[in-house]
Amino acid sequence: MLVAPSILAADLGHLAEAVSAAEEGGADWIHVDVMDGQFVPNLTFGADVIRAVRRVTSLPIDAHLMVVRPEQYFDEYVDAGATGVTIHVEAAPHLHRQLQRLGELGVVAGVALNPGTSLAALDAVWEAAGLVLVMSVNPGWAGQAFLPGSLERLRSARARIDELPVDSRPYLQVDGGITAANAAAVARAGADVLVSGSGVYGGDPRSRIEAIRSAAEEPEPSRP
Ligand code: DX5
Ligand code: ZN
Repeated sequence: MLVAPSILAADLGHLAEAVSAAEEGGADWIHVDVMDGQFVPNLTFGADVIRAVRRVTSLPIDAHLMVVRPEQYFDEYVDAGATGVTIHVEAAPHLHRQLQRLGELGVVAGVALNPGTSLAALDAVWEAAGLVLVMSVNPGWAGQAFLPGSLERLRSARARIDELPVDSRPYLQVDGGITAANAAAVARAGADVLVSGSGVYGGDPRSRIEAIRSAAEEPEPSRP
């Protein structure tokens, strides 16, 4: 199980400390939410922030692009230090080509789905993706409530991924409203990368990360 704190929920006046606290607290990846004010209403970070994060951590940087025409930023973000780039299916008419391009750039090629988008949108790209992100909130802000319908979507995505050859199975990531309270449920539904913003930065990052991880890794209770 991988835990990826989202810096969107950190105190941005102390970004370097927030990234270091996540790394020292046991984070596996750092999740950076890039928003352009068009695909989603909010505006957040660009390549310079990814570069600043890169300077203070050796962890993989997972760039979640909530932008229109994401391909215009690929080279810039990879050059800045992103090790994974996730684009939204809703913003990518040439999805297959763009995932291939990310693979050629040597990063994890991720594809994200909004809560209102059918998993069928991925039918032709399961094998081209290095990561599938099932959004569990409508993207735009940290601190929103987890949408319970995401569990069924994760189960469906997990079933589809498990049909693929082992060496071409993408990560199954979930993002939005993840805390220690629902980490076990999303893990049992098949997620293997848990993004958490306020769930980590709403308190002490180390204890929050530990609580999320231990909930996610706790064995499923046996049925009587
Ligand atoms: C939502 C972002 C998420 C968000 C997660 O638009 O993609 O990564 O920052 O924050 P929480 O965990 O607070 O929902
Ligand atoms: Zn995100």
